[in-house]
Amino acid sequence: LTVDVSQSVARIQPTMYGIFYEDINFAADGGLYPEMIKNRSFEFDEPMMGWQQPNSVKLAFNPNSGYATVIKSLHDGEKFNFCRVEVNNPDQYVIINEGFRGMGIRQGAHYDLTLRAAKRSGNVRRITLELIDDAGNVLGAGTIIPTSKQWANYATEITATKTEAKAKLRITFSGKGELDLDMISLFPQDTWKNRKNGLRKDLVQLLYDLRPGFLRFPGGCIVEGRTLAKRYQWKKTVGPVGERATLVNRWNTEFNHRLTPDYYQSFGLGFFEYFQLSEDLGAEPLPILGCGMACQFNTGELVPMDELDPYVQDALDLIEFANGPVDSPWGKVRADMGHPKPFNMKYIGIGNEQWGPEYIKRYKVFAKALKDAYPDIVLVSTAGPFPDGDFFEYGMGELVKLDAELVDEHYYRPPSWFRENADRYDDYDRNGPKIFAGEYAAQSVEIASPNNKNNWETALSEAAFMTGLERNADLVHLTSYAPLMAHADGWQWTPDMIWFNNLESIGTPNYYVQKLFANHPGTDLLRITRDGEQLSGQNDLYASAVKDAGKNELIIKLVNTAENSQKVKVDVEGGKPGAEGKFTRLRSDDLSAENSFESPRNVYPTEGTVRLNGNALQVELPAHSLSVFRVSLD
Ligand code: AHR
Repeated sequence: LTVDVSQSVARIQPTMYGIFYEDINFAADGGLYPEMIKNRSFEFDEPMMGWQQPNSVKLAFNPNSGYATVIKSLHDGEKFNFCRVEVNNPDQYVIINEGFRGMGIRQGAHYDLTLRAAKRSGNVRRITLELIDDAGNVLGAGTIIPTSKQWANYATEITATKTEAKAKLRITFSGKGELDLDMISLFPQDTWKNRKNGLRKDLVQLLYDLRPGFLRFPGGCIVEGRTLAKRYQWKKTVGPVGERATLVNRWNTEFNHRLTPDYYQSFGLGFFEYFQLSEDLGAEPLPILGCGMACQFNTGELVPMDELDPYVQDALDLIEFANGPVDSPWGKVRADMGHPKPFNMKYIGIGNEQWGPEYIKRYKVFAKALKDAYPDIVLVSTAGPFPDGDFFEYGMGELVKLDAELVDEHYYRPPSWFRENADRYDDYDRNGPKIFAGEYAAQSVEIASPNNKNNWETALSEAAFMTGLERNADLVHLTSYAPLMAHADGWQWTPDMIWFNNLESIGTPNYYVQKLFANHPGTDLLRITRDGEQLSGQNDLYASAVKDAGKNELIIKLVNTAENSQKVKVDVEGGKPGAEGKFTRLRSDDLSAENSFESPRNVYPTEGTVRLNGNALQVELPAHSLSVFRVSLD
């Protein structure tokens, strides 16, 4: 192989390796947003879902010990329910919240319990809040004394006395009477950046460690909604948390024989928090908005063209929310939430994974309005869910005619497809739109099969494919694996890059492949060839090379998908004879190897050193391996 370090073929975009975030698999409530109370404001369609009241049975000749009724109320068409408890039997009547497949608590950790209450009649004197295990043992407690007949906020702190992955919260009432309750919330104090009611620290850390170039949010199909009425509307996700609407999650449906009827969006993780997270990660924010087409895998409901305006206005207003001055209406909302400085958003996506003429019609309207108002904003369009075929050809053809800037392509395909398509972009039209490889993942069984595995074969095949993305970095400007994360007890789709339960989180082999590429993106693309040809699977070898101009280092990524080790010699033209370097490697002899909560480092990067022999990097690549070499050019 030969690499010439003096010739930069193209700049690598800082956005090259990023994150696709979607609230699927309990990735928000129950995941990144570590609220521990499910249905905290009683707004699920079944209003007491998540809550039990075990002692409320009516006894013969006796009043029941108490009873909770959800009072339904609407405000501007949105639900603002609350719960009325009638306590007849002091210290007997309890309500219990089950959490998101339980609540993960750690011994010695502190938790903030907050709620809103109003005394209606009688005198409910005290509320006792206890973390309990399955057997009812108390693992930490706090008390609240309600004092007011008006709605008021109350808070207490609970310290856990034991670590437990599936705790529950039991609420006991002393005194008799009627009490109204709302927004019963329990959060760990130990959050990302120690923000009050902030994000789950271990999960954000995994994202941070990727050093992503962008954060795409909030999805995925969730953007579109099962129906238009249930689409994601960003305006309902900003402002005070207690005033945000609750919405049934688009993934709260039978999907691949998995049913999660308790999957809702509290929007505690809303658009402000996504922008803030992007900033924390040093990633460009990339919101994707609905374009008036409900999820095509479902109803495919379309907004009539003459009713598209509110959708376009939402996009215009989002740009103002992110970037507008504090005295603009939406810039003020951002400032009031604590971020007067603009978020400097540069990209916006129009529709997720839509296809066909109906998409193109709607995209044109958005593009005109957005570009007229904000000529510099980069629009992301979509070519549908298939990497080839008639829909894709049609969409791409139309988008080329429209001078689209960035097209989002998705591919959920078998591992072999990824290995065989590492040259996908080698001959792509350089005069058309740039590419956002926005969702991809090798499927070990078939697309979204519940039996798919995040095994080493899928990850290694993605690595091979990614050398092709990188070799074409003049064309491919953004890339991201999908979906990002999944709760081990609450998922709908697999494979996923990160798995978590209520206490732990692990990176899959696919996560570590992403990390190796994203941590070594370089700044300039170099040509690495064998006999003048790109290496894209010949003899099961794949290669890409970049330079990190800041550190003056050469970075070479080599993937060996063969069953045997292979010796490789790379002549570094323009390199420094005898230069020293390092490598990071991922490998496993077992293509079915996975990481698990018990063995999180089964497939895990190892490091070593290298030295050029003269001007050549001479290495032996182990079977089934990805190696990233960094060699000094000084
Ligand atoms: O990543 C899961 C789903 O796959 C996304 O929501 C959708 O865009 C795609 O079909």
